[in-house]
Amino acid sequence: MNTREEERLQVQMALDSQKTQAQRNKLGQFATPPSLAGEITRFSAELASPLGDDASALEPSCGTGAFLTALSDCPATSSVAKVGVEVDALFADAAKRLWGDEAQIINADFLEWAADLSSGFFDLLVANPPYVRHHHLTSEQKSRYAEIASQASGQSPSGLSGLYVYFVLAAASRLRADAVASWLIPTEFMSVNYGSALRSYLTTRATLERVHVFRAEDVQFDDALVTSCVVTYRNTPPSSVHSALFTFGSSFEHPSEEHRVPVAELRRSPKWLQRFQQSERGQGMVVGQCFTIRRGIATGGNSFFIRPRAEFHALGIGDDFLRPILPSPRHMPATEIEADAEGWPTNVATLALLDCTGKTWESLPVSVQGYLSDVPHKIRDSYLVKGRSPWYVQEQREAAPIVCTYMGRSRSGESAFRFIRNRSRAITTNSYLMLFPKVAGVPVEEDWLDEAWHKLAEVPLATMQAEGREYGGGLKKIEPKELARVVIPDFDAASQGALF
Ligand SMILES: C[S@@+](CC[C@H](N)C(=O)[O-])C[C@H]1O[C@@H](n2cnc3c(N)ncnc32)[C@H](O)[C@@H]1O
Repeated sequence: MNTREEERLQVQMALDSQKTQAQRNKLGQFATPPSLAGEITRFSAELASPLGDDASALEPSCGTGAFLTALSDCPATSSVAKVGVEVDALFADAAKRLWGDEAQIINADFLEWAADLSSGFFDLLVANPPYVRHHHLTSEQKSRYAEIASQASGQSPSGLSGLYVYFVLAAASRLRADAVASWLIPTEFMSVNYGSALRSYLTTRATLERVHVFRAEDVQFDDALVTSCVVTYRNTPPSSVHSALFTFGSSFEHPSEEHRVPVAELRRSPKWLQRFQQSERGQGMVVGQCFTIRRGIATGGNSFFIRPRAEFHALGIGDDFLRPILPSPRHMPATEIEADAEGWPTNVATLALLDCTGKTWESLPVSVQGYLSDVPHKIRDSYLVKGRSPWYVQEQREAAPIVCTYMGRSRSGESAFRFIRNRSRAITTNSYLMLFPKVAGVPVEEDWLDEAWHKLAEVPLATMQAEGREYGGGLKKIEPKELARVVIPDFDAASQGALF
């Protein structure tokens, strides 16, 4: 890595840390991993080549310039003129200092800048535009951006569009004929209603070369959990027989799957990815696209570490050392867990896990030391407990808003697999699977969780069984990886508004 890139990454980190999560969400400030920026740029440059001496390249929302670096490092583009646009003066000024004469940095709103005809034209565009949901845009911004986008691309974006849609459409006026553009954007435009303007642009005005979809489990950003894709196109209308390449996998450079799809078909389809998801498993999103699935914790001795909260209190052990935990599935009558103001369950047994994580033995109160000293030998000497340091700490988990019983015998009318909506702070033991929503750095809406829970509860037992396994005696079981593959019928996570 060269010195400027080292410095850029340091500046990027320093600027990121000056902002709150809410401020970063508002401007969609999530940096591209340098290796990915490099892969996208090399691929795009190859498509655009040969680039003449007067060629120019643009990064429309450059931050400190992840793609400017990639353009400098790529032999085919190292000497082309480079322009970066950035609305946030803090980032723009830092970028100006970093890039000096090597790139022109403009501190402006890209949409307004793109509408200005004196801004020039480009042969190559590589970008990670801001992922800002429409809720963060004012109605004045929406109508102004729609006007600019429509003038540039001939499309009328819906008012529910994320900011990135306006970016792609507005950029059309800045591209030379045949220019190549690549955008790292959320996959949702391929299935949601507001994506139609972009889908139409990419199938009528531009020649769609490739869409690379990162699998839901390969989240591209540490801090903005977004399901992303890279869309690459040429600024020229497509031929009637053109087909686009769809690739999938964790690596952009080395995809694990490739399919060609005629653009004429894409033009007619409101759901571009359905054809790939459908396979033999039916229509809808799979659980793993919407949720990260984890087992609950293994305590190594439930009878010792878990007791009714009142019993711990009676022993003088206070809530500072207790975490709410759900009763085992056998003692779970509810499908929905209500909670009091402190997050303790109110409609099922109020059990507590003794959790002394982060505490040294000396710092524990006498009541806790006394209780731990009475640990049964069988538990103290168990494989799990012996392997922990110190032996009395527990695995850490957040409470999951939805949990699932994953093993059992279906009795008349009752499924072995039950999805329980958890409104409490209670975690679970490993007799449950815990479902954590995959979200774009924003709080998940309760309505979305309720909708997801209802839809999960409607998944037919046969579907669960098809992915899971059955043992002799009718014992049914489903493992996290298997649950991740289960299709949730009629559930379009993105259209519910909370995801991505
Ligand atoms: C997703 S980050 C990408 C930063 C950088 N290009 C990268 O790939 O690491 C999006 C950037 O767009 C900037 N941005 C947000 N709204 C903008 C606008 N209207 N015009 C120009 N830049 C904008 C943000 O400040 C942020 O730096």
